[in-house]
Formats: sequence, C-alpha cells, structure tokens
Amino acid sequence: MFKVKDHYYNKAKDEKYFARSIYKLEEIDQRFKVLKKGDLVVDLGYFPGSWAQYTAPKVGPEGRVVGIDIQPVNKKLQLPNVTLFEKDIFTLTGPGDLGADRAFDVVLSDMAPSTTGIKTVDQARSLDLIESVFGLLPILLRPQGNFVIKVFDSHDAQVFLKAQKNRFNDFQFLKPKSTRSISKEFFVIGKGFKA
Ligand SMILES: C[S@@+](CC[C@H](N)C(=O)[O-])C[C@H]1O[C@@H](n2cnc3c(N)ncnc32)[C@H](O)[C@@H]1O
Repeated sequence: MFKVKDHYYNKAKDEKYFARSIYKLEEIDQRFKVLKKGDLVVDLGYFPGSWAQYTAPKVGPEGRVVGIDIQPVNKKLQLPNVTLFEKDIFTLTGPGDLGADRAFDVVLSDMAPSTTGIKTVDQARSLDLIESVFGLLPILLRPQGNFVIKVFDSHDAQVFLKAQKNRFNDFQFLKPKSTRSISKEFFVIGKGFKA
C-alpha cells in the first residue's frame, strides 16, 4: 500500500494505531457525535483496523464492534469487544451473517475499491461500492441509527448522494483535516436513519 509519511502517518505510528485514517473518524465523531457507549457497530472494510481501534473504547465494554474486510483477518487487532470477519460486503444478507442478533446502531464504511489508475473505471468501482452499502442499510442499520461512508467525488456520486439525502434526518458532507488536500475523497455522515 502507498503510504504518505506525513504528520498524521507519524502521529498514528507514535500512538500505535494501524493507520492514519483514525484521525478522519476521530474528527467526524467529534463534530457529528455518531458513536456512543453501548453501541453495536459494523465497520465495513475495517482492515487494518484503526477505525475499530477508535470505535472499541468509544462504545465501551457494553458495546461491540464487528469488522469485515476481504483481506485475511488482522490477527494483531485483538480487543475484547471487537469481532472480525473475512468477508465481501457483496455477500451480506443481514446482521446474522456477522453474528449479530439485531440491526446495528451505527454503520461505518471506509471501504475503497482496488484502483486501476484509470479515472472512469475507478470512479465507477467506487460508486458501485457506495451504492451497495446504501442498498444494505435497510437490513443492517436500525431505525434512527447513524452512518458514515467514504466517497470518492464524481458527478455520478453527487447525483446518487442527492437522491439519498431524505433517508436521514440529518445528512452532511465533510472533508476531514487529515485527508490530503489533493485527495478526491470526502465523508458522508447520515444521522437518524428513516428506515
Ligand atoms: C482504506 S482501507 C480501510 C482502513 C480502515 N478504516 C482503518 O482505519 O484501518 C479500505 C478497505 O476496504 C476493503 N474493501 C474493499 N472492497 C471491499 C468489499 N467488497 N468488501 C469488504 N471490504 C472491502 C479493502 O480490502 C480495504 O482493506
């Protein structure tokens, strides 16, 4: 994986986090309050696991984090309230596939497709993933639950997102400070899912 060794990379290394992405979720959560004690959270595309490292203490011992990724399970990520699965989100049929007996309070997705360098192909793959996650919300996210998803900007992504706005009480976009300025990524934060 290509790593930019900047301030956030070094900070993550010093603070023993698996990736600099931790600071994106931290900023999102500080601003929008998406996570709380006792929550049952699914972290789609968790690998290597910095979002789970942030989320696990936030939800505390009564809460639980379930991470899924197509990568083999990260055995170095061992926290008592985190469960990991090697799974493709395209195969998910409901919370039961992830050992949960009810819908999640929060759905997080930092997923990114493997890139080809061909802009149109990469944008289409990214949108495909995003559409799939929004498609899974009725089976994964409880009514009034919260949602965070990474999006690679494109005209088609903007058109798609506009049509999703009314599925939440509150729907916001954020480009966190720790996201590199040249990056086309931003995050969508949906609060209060209208199931
Ligand atoms: C940017 S990384 C996530 C970093 C993670 N949030 C962290 O903080 O450590 C994106 C992940 O999405 C995963 N991914 C991509 N497509 C996926 C799919 N269809 N199902 C599950 N995971 C997928 C990739 O394998 C990759 O590990």
